[in-house]
Amino acid sequence: AQVVQAEFIKSSVRTEDCPSDGVPEFALVGRSNVGKSSLLNSIVRRKRLALTSKKPGKTQCINHFRINDSWYLVDLPGYGYAAAPQELRKDWGKFTKDYFLNRPTLVSVFLLIDASIPAKKIDLEYAGWLGQNQIPMTLIFTKCDKRKKKRDGGKRPEENVNDFQELISGFFHTVPPWIMTSSVTNQGRDEILLHIAQLRNY
Ligand code: GTP
Ligand code: MG
Repeated sequence: AQVVQAEFIKSSVRTEDCPSDGVPEFALVGRSNVGKSSLLNSIVRRKRLALTSKKPGKTQCINHFRINDSWYLVDLPGYGYAAAPQELRKDWGKFTKDYFLNRPTLVSVFLLIDASIPAKKIDLEYAGWLGQNQIPMTLIFTKCDKRKKKRDGGKRPEENVNDFQELISGFFHTVPPWIMTSSVTNQGRDEILLHIAQLRNY
């Protein structure tokens, strides 16, 4: 499973405006700044296909990237960005959730969780919402290259990952698949591609 081709197709603000060619897709969602766009670039081995930023709130639309001419990776705006105007925040939440509920070609939502810090309430809520709505989900832990910092709880990524899984276990009948990643070291890249290949062959 390798990416030989990746191209940006379009940005949409409504589910109805998304591409209609019916190929399977996988969407990256998570808190602003968790590393969605960076992970997309890591997966496709391009530095700037998806735009990234140190400042949260960079991605503001539903962005479709076609891979190997046969499936999509979808970059979504982050949630939980406190500095965004209240109205915009609500709107993002609304249109991403509408997209999850009304996109038949969506095979799995990749929920990105920062493994360098302890679980955040908003991430637990988001995972809970996906679980309640029975939206197929894969947990992708990001920033696994980061060393533990005292001010961030002082736990290793593996410990934060375990804590998170324990905290969400009540939301799901079966534990969602999970992958540890880093866009700095490209950890998890092959595992994600293998996972996508397996999901596509169902
Ligand atoms: P929004 O589009 O604002 O929702 O953010 P995003 O989730 O797309 O995050 P983005 O990829 O723009 O990355 C945010 C910041 O985190 C950037 O400064 C990245 O360089 C950094 N970052 C992303 N992934 C990693 C990672 O795996 N390890 C480390 N150390 N930093 C990362
Ligand atoms: Mg982004």
